[in-house]
Amino acid sequence: MNARTPLVAGNWKMHKTVEEARQLVWAMLDGLRAVPEVERVLCPPFTALLPVAQMLLGTDIRLGAQNMHWEEEGAYTGEISPRMVAEFAQFVILGHSERRAYFGETDDMVRRKVHAALSHKLTPIVCVGETLEQRRAGQTEAVVRGQVLAALDGLQPEQAARVVIAYEPVWAIGTGEAATPEEAQRVIGQVIRPTLAKAFGHEAARRVRILYGGSVKAHNAAAFFVQPDIDGALVGGASLDPEQFPAIVRAAAARA
Ligand code: PGA
Repeated sequence: MNARTPLVAGNWKMHKTVEEARQLVWAMLDGLRAVPEVERVLCPPFTALLPVAQMLLGTDIRLGAQNMHWEEEGAYTGEISPRMVAEFAQFVILGHSERRAYFGETDDMVRRKVHAALSHKLTPIVCVGETLEQRRAGQTEAVVRGQVLAALDGLQPEQAARVVIAYEPVWAIGTGEAATPEEAQRVIGQVIRPTLAKAFGHEAARRVRILYGGSVKAHNAAAFFVQPDIDGALVGGASLDPEQFPAIVRAAAARA
């Protein structure tokens, strides 16, 4: 029995109208309900949060947003606040590499969002990971360590323990070229968890769930979940596939 409940989250990114979202959830619902030992989180776009929340009523499948602002409310045209997200969702993905790369999200913005999420009882799924250039330059450890420390800066150990971290090497996202399970385990087990232990103590570090993300599919998921420090996955493309996503969840059940 692993002390950390496995977690598989589906990041739908900018896909699915309300009607398409309903169809996808219907197609996956039975498969997802059948695996209660894994924490399952669907992260549709904002416009589909309410309809998906209604479909998940009475199930133990959780809902997450893909981003949010850190302020409660105010003159921030086009933004969604933590209070608004918390009306529907229990999780929020923060600092995804696409937000960092295309929307100028900085470590400091991610840190503010992490604090805001925790104070609204949302579980942040904080994404970290190196680019291909950084990897080639031998900077993976420094980049990942820096992103983790920046995002969690100022938290108390018991707050840090509630955060979920997703290690997503940028070069593996949407490319079909996943990291090897051994590589992912090395970064997660030898860089991320020790960084957490140093900053927040061993007990908090032991409790933090750390996911791998980047081209996780039904056929390769199990190999990640046998690694001692990989507690689940953040799944992009395959989370839109009603066969593959429940299959990835089933693979994670082996860790429970
Ligand atoms: P992918 O995306 O599974 O399509 O590689 C993962 C992510 O961006 O979270």
